Amino acid sequence: MTVRTYSRTDLIDSLPDLHFIDGKWTGSGDGRTFETIDPSTEAVLGSVARGGVREIDVAVNAAHRAQHGDWRNFSPAQRGQLIFKLADLIEAEAERLALFETLDVGKPVKESLGDVRGVCATLRYNAGAADKMEGSTIPLGRDFVDFTMLEPVGVTAHIVPWNYPLGMVARSVAPALAAGCTVVIKPAEQSPLTALAFAELCQRAGFPDGVVNVVAGFGEDAGAALVSHPLVRGITFTGSVETGRKIYSGAAQGLKPVVLELGGKNPMIVMEDADLERAAFDALDGAFGNSGQVCSSSSRFLLHRSIREEFLARLAEGAAKLTVGKGLDNCDLGPLVSSEQYAKVRSYIDAGSKSGAKLRLGGGRPRGLEAGYFVEPTIFEGVDPASALAREEIFGPVAVALSFDTDAEALAMANGLGFGLVTGVYSRDISRALTFARDVEAGSVWINGWFIGGVQAPTGGIKESGVGRERGLPGIRNYLNIKNIGIRL
Ligand code: NAI
Ligand code: MG
Repeated sequence: MTVRTYSRTDLIDSLPDLHFIDGKWTGSGDGRTFETIDPSTEAVLGSVARGGVREIDVAVNAAHRAQHGDWRNFSPAQRGQLIFKLADLIEAEAERLALFETLDVGKPVKESLGDVRGVCATLRYNAGAADKMEGSTIPLGRDFVDFTMLEPVGVTAHIVPWNYPLGMVARSVAPALAAGCTVVIKPAEQSPLTALAFAELCQRAGFPDGVVNVVAGFGEDAGAALVSHPLVRGITFTGSVETGRKIYSGAAQGLKPVVLELGGKNPMIVMEDADLERAAFDALDGAFGNSGQVCSSSSRFLLHRSIREEFLARLAEGAAKLTVGKGLDNCDLGPLVSSEQYAKVRSYIDAGSKSGAKLRLGGGRPRGLEAGYFVEPTIFEGVDPASALAREEIFGPVAVALSFDTDAEALAMANGLGFGLVTGVYSRDISRALTFARDVEAGSVWINGWFIGGVQAPTGGIKESGVGRERGLPGIRNYLNIKNIGIRL
C-alpha cells in the first residue's frame, strides 16, 4: 500500500460531489444536493448531487447502450485485465480512499485501509475468474449435442449500504463486470464519497463510457427508481429486512432476479469444551468491530452455563481495553454512522436497562467525546430471550449473553429467530460442532473462528437474512444467464 499524507483540508477540498453517468461528471437536473456528515464530529463534510428518477433513467439508459455497444466485444480475459488494472489503481490510491471512508462513516483509518485491501482482493479474485466461468455439455444421447452458454444478464443495479461503503460496491460490482454486465450503483445517502471516487478510478482504468455509473441519492427516490426501471435486469442489495422486502416486491413487478443480504442476530455458541481464550478473543472483533455495524457480527452469545462466567469475564476484560474515538485518531471503535443509527442503538440500550437486563459492560457514552455518535462497547446479560434486545438486529456495539444447558437447547435458541445469516460454534469436539453445523439454519457456519472466509467463500442468508449468495464463483453466477443450445445431428 502506498502511504502518503493528506491534510484534512486537502481531502475536504477534493471530495467528489457529482454523479458519474455515461463517462461524465454531472449534477442533478434540478440542482438538488444533500449533505454528507462526519459522524465523528457531526459537522457537514460537503454537499453531493442528489439524484432522482431522472438521473437514474439517464444512467440506466447509458448502461443499456454500453451493454449493447463496445463492452460486449471485450473478451472475458480483457474484462479481467481491466478489473486487474482497477485493483492496481485502487491500491495506489488506498490511503486517499480510506481517508474518504473514515471521514464519511467514522471508521478508524486502520479499518478503512483494511477495507480497501479487501476491495483489491475482491477485484482481483473476480478479474482472475472472468475467463473461467464455463458452461457445460448435457448428455442427451448419440443424436444430439447440447451445451450451455453463459451470457451477462445485462444492466445491473447495485444498492449499497453505509457500513462498508466501498467494500459493498466491490462485492457486487466486481463480479458483475467480470460477467460482462454493466452497472448502476446507488450508494447509501450516508456514505456517497468512496463510490464516486471508485467511479473516477474506473474511468482511469479504461472502462468504456456507460459501463460503470454512480448516482448518489436517497433510497426512496433514486433507489426505488433504479429497482423499477424496466431496463434493469438484475438487482443486488444489502441492507435492512424492511427495505429488502420493498426491493423484492418492486423486483417482482418486473420479474427481475435479486440478491438480497439482510443482516442477522448471529449466535456465537460457546460449548463447555471450547477454547475460551480463542472464543473470547474472536468475540471482541465479532461484536465490536466496525462498532457492531456488521451484518455478520456476533451479536448474540449463547453460552454453556458452566463456562458463561469465565467467558464473560475474559470478554469484558478485553472489551474494557478497546479505545473509542474519532476515525482519524485510529482508535479501535469509531462512532456510529448517523444520528438515526445512534438513536436506534441508544433506544435498545435504554429499553434493555429499563427492562432489568444487567449491563455487564458499557452502555454509555465514552467520556471526553461530546460530539459524534459514540457508544461504548456494551454487553447485556440476564436478558429476557423474548425481548427485542435479544431478538432484533441492533447494528451497534451491543451484544447480549444468554445461557443454555444442552446442545438441543442451544440449537433451538439459534434457530428460534427469523434470521439465518451466520452461526458460530466453539467446541473442541469437531463431531459435535459439525452436528450443530448440519442442523443449524444459517447461510454460513463458522467453527472455532469468526469472520472466516473472505473473497472466495460464498456468503448470504436464509429466512429473513436474504436471498442468494455473494462472493466466490456463485457471486459471479448471479450476473450470468444460462442459455441452453440443443442440436439434433
Ligand atoms: P436501508 O436498508 O434502508 O438502506 C440501505 C440502502 O438501501 C441505502 O442505499 C438506501 O438508500 C437504500 N434504500 C432505502 N430504501 C430504499 C427503497 N425503498 N428502494 C431502494 N433502495 C432503498 O438501511 P438503513 O435505513 O440505512 O439502516 C437501517 C438498519 O438496516 C440498520 O440499523 C441495520 O439494522 C440494517 N442494515 C443492515 C446492513 C447489512 O449489512 N445487512 C447494512 C445497513 C443497514
Ligand atoms: Mg457521512
